[in-house]
Amino acid sequence: MKALVYLGPAKKAVEERPKPEITAPTDAIVKITNTTICGTDLHILKGDVPSCQPGRILGHEGVGIIEKTGSTVTAFKPGDRVLISCISACGKCAYCRKLMYSHCTTGGWILGNRVDGTQAEFVRIPHADTSLYRLPEGADEEALVMLSDILPTGFECGVLNGKVQPGSTVAIVGAGPIGLAALLTAQFYSPAEIIMIDLDDNRLEVAKRFGATSTVNSADGKAVETVMKMTGERGVDTAIEAVGIPATFEMCEEIVAAGGTIANIGVHGTKVALHLESLWDRNITITTRLVDTVSTPMLLNTLRSHKIDPERLITHHFKLDRILDAYETFGHAADTGALKAILQA
Ligand SMILES: NC(=O)c1ccc[n+]([C@@H]2O[C@H](COP(=O)([O-])OP(=O)(O)OC[C@H]3O[C@@H](n4cnc5c(N)ncnc54)[C@H](O)[C@@H]3O)[C@@H](O)[C@H]2O)c1
Ligand SMILES: [Zn+2]
Ligand SMILES: [Zn+2]
Repeated sequence: MKALVYLGPAKKAVEERPKPEITAPTDAIVKITNTTICGTDLHILKGDVPSCQPGRILGHEGVGIIEKTGSTVTAFKPGDRVLISCISACGKCAYCRKLMYSHCTTGGWILGNRVDGTQAEFVRIPHADTSLYRLPEGADEEALVMLSDILPTGFECGVLNGKVQPGSTVAIVGAGPIGLAALLTAQFYSPAEIIMIDLDDNRLEVAKRFGATSTVNSADGKAVETVMKMTGERGVDTAIEAVGIPATFEMCEEIVAAGGTIANIGVHGTKVALHLESLWDRNITITTRLVDTVSTPMLLNTLRSHKIDPERLITHHFKLDRILDAYETFGHAADTGALKAILQA
């Protein structure tokens, strides 16, 4: 089969690989129908994720059809159409029992990281019973790919951790797919204001269409001032960090209101200053989280009832054998306007 293989920092290639086999009775082999590329795959290619070693097939998102199941898999059978979660969960370990699937002792974020991933014609899914979801009847398979990672991430790490409330004020720093997923799912709670902050006017335009009440381009260095003015010098109840660099986390520290929450989503590779000298008396909360995907069943319901339409995040389509072109397009989002690219196998 064809697969996109990570060959070390800045190196990748489409290679011919053997079809994966069942290696544990809890495994399933899934034939991929639709997959995509994540910002995190770009982090891997930068060499930011040492757990992902050269030779690894990338990808942790997708939908497909069950080809084969291990002897103890009971929830699925060959021919079933399934959503693949970016997080594998055994369902039994102490972390899984606390619904912290991202910390599963034999799973977590392993797909396209510690085990071969979904940017291939077939993938082996460990802990299949508790890591796959049946597709709702008649569901749009491309839209469902958005539920493998980005929607649960924006919702769990940003909206739930950020305690978005009816009538509250929210700022989301970063209007990439993850920030936009937080924007879409924040609206479940009817906040009064959602301010979207980015450097890219194209993405801010998209954010407006997706329900942002205002947008701020932070390129002029005055974003903090602007947000404070917009909020009557109070700041925002929820500041969601969806970039992963020190400047944007520090911006959240400056715009969070007294009693508010900074919900970090970004993957950070360097240390960030914590300004306790100005925050110690402000009753704030700071949260961090790796997505657990515990909200996936709920998000499937909202997709089925069109409370959210995540296909709006899809800007490009490629055949799987043109995945290198898809990486080019996705890697130059400021020029190409790319959000999510669907790869059809
Ligand atoms: N916590 C988790 O479980 C989890 C899961 C998935 C992804 N992530 C992380 O979430 C982050 C966002 O992911 P994405 O795919 O949307 O990334 P992305 O790179 O597509 O988007 C980031 C956005 O930030 C903007 N930006 C960059 N510098 C900025 C600045 N100084 N000020 C304002 N905006 C700025 C960019 O223009 C871009 O629109 C990444 O760090 C990713 O690794 C975390
Ligand atoms: Zn991802
Ligand atoms: Zn577990």
